[in-house]
Amino acid sequence: MVKFLVLGCLLALALPTLAEVGWWKTAQLYQIYPRSYKDSDGDGVGDLNGITEQLPYLKEIGITATWLSPIFTSPMADFGYDVADLKNIDPIFGTMEDFEKLVARAKELDIKIILDFVPNHTSDECDWFIRSAAGEEEYKDFYVWHTGKVVNGIRQPPTNWISVFRGQMWTWNEQRQAYYLHQFHAKQPDLNYRNPQVVEAMKDVLRFWLRKGAYGFRIDAVPHVFEVSADADGNWPDEPRNEGVDDPEDYSYLQHIYTTNQPETIELVYAFRDVIEEMDRELGGDDRILLTEAYSPLEVLMQYYGNGTHLGSQIPFNFELLANINYYSDAYHYSELIHNWLDNMPEGQTANWVFGNHDQSRIGTRLGADRIDSVNIIKSILPGIDITYQGEELGMTNVFISWEDTVDPQACQSNEEEFERLTRDPVRTPFQWSDEQNAGFSNASSTWLPVSSDYKLVNVKRERGIALSHLNIFKQLRTLRDEPTLKQGDTTVTAIGPNVLVIKRSLAGQKSYIAVININDDVETVDLDSAFTSISTQLQYVVVNDKSVRRKNDLTFANSVLLLPKEAVVLSTV
Ligand code: GLC
Ligand code: MG
Repeated sequence: MVKFLVLGCLLALALPTLAEVGWWKTAQLYQIYPRSYKDSDGDGVGDLNGITEQLPYLKEIGITATWLSPIFTSPMADFGYDVADLKNIDPIFGTMEDFEKLVARAKELDIKIILDFVPNHTSDECDWFIRSAAGEEEYKDFYVWHTGKVVNGIRQPPTNWISVFRGQMWTWNEQRQAYYLHQFHAKQPDLNYRNPQVVEAMKDVLRFWLRKGAYGFRIDAVPHVFEVSADADGNWPDEPRNEGVDDPEDYSYLQHIYTTNQPETIELVYAFRDVIEEMDRELGGDDRILLTEAYSPLEVLMQYYGNGTHLGSQIPFNFELLANINYYSDAYHYSELIHNWLDNMPEGQTANWVFGNHDQSRIGTRLGADRIDSVNIIKSILPGIDITYQGEELGMTNVFISWEDTVDPQACQSNEEEFERLTRDPVRTPFQWSDEQNAGFSNASSTWLPVSSDYKLVNVKRERGIALSHLNIFKQLRTLRDEPTLKQGDTTVTAIGPNVLVIKRSLAGQKSYIAVININDDVETVDLDSAFTSISTQLQYVVVNDKSVRRKNDLTFANSVLLLPKEAVVLSTV
């Protein structure tokens, strides 16, 4: 008996728990835009079986977890961000059984599936909205309704608020004889979070998908969830003008002080996190996670992490670099933005690095195709979570889509002159698997968005065979991230002059790793010896890009590292 106990204790020591606590802290996350990943049934739109089929590819490139843009029942006014049935799969993507198969296969491969959760709004075709518009008691206050104000005998919306997708944030509903609020498209009515029943209903949606095997959620458009409280008469204030913007329909015409970043929003994320904790207890297994999408000021973002008494989102997306770096940014600017996050993060939290998603111009288009490897190096070497949007590992770039062929509502609601500034179609085109028909994405005669004309050069199959392709560099970086230094080491980030960014990771008793990136086209020689005290005199090349004349395993003196234009490398101590 005693023997048995001892053995049990030893086992317990060796296997403290089967659950992996904190697996996400050094994870490689990958965003799939399901409409454009892989089409298994030949209708020209990607689907769940397509994703399941390609999970081994995610394994090949070292992905730990993947978040899927919405796969739920939807009339697709905003390509799934208008959810009509929050607990069901849209037929275009497949069935609930297909989802279960995806989760099961992902589990076998040890890849976690994260879902997109859209709390701000539903579709106007959602049963809740239909009942709310009909004035049914239970759903009457599920959305934000107002009869408007009458000025000179003419009925007008209650405020001057403008929707993100242009024009009034209010649409008149005949049946209800009132305006409803929509921060986005008129087909995306905002839920009323001042109604506790809405909060409960949405928490139930979280529980539903967690029980189905999702490992967490990317929470959509968080800053928009609350509007300022109405006054005693049930009215809201107008938003002030943004000087310099003349188009009264454009979202940037107003300062969104009453419709974004209200303090209640943070509290709501804490409440959602409580559900995550509750479900971790109910379901066991590894930690479940929340990622929050907010383009908000840094001090707001930091509150999403938690506040000492409440836990929040483990991964408030870090858009510092995505939103602020442009083609002309110098190394000081990169360094400053990286420091902004690292130096302001609350104690004990984990950083994350995002350079792209389905709403933003592709890296190769925004920063130049010859900076793709640099970006992949930066985000893999920095501490914490590395997040990649599908296709960025291949160096996919924006695809021009004419006004006639544009389908993104954000652009379609504008006009032929403005749509290019607004359209997100160019970054949502089919994933490029091979040089076959439709880049191997689909065997349909046409795909929902056109395939990029560069697919014969930029595709998985071809890049697998090229030593220094973006894909192979990406894969090498993934392997490197298994090193203890990259998992737990200290971080130093600095610019050496305007052109060279240096990121050093070090851990006692382990090799140090130093990413050295020449952002521009001057030939540079940098002295890492004086940039970092006590670095070994010789350093070894661990990762090189196709601008380097050096090869992997070559040696260099630390006090004179030569960098060719746009060369980006990782060196290690020897
Ligand atoms: C988020 C999504 C975007 C969507 C919007 C409305 O910003 O990323 O694609 O259009 O929310 O749901
Ligand atoms: Mg399909």
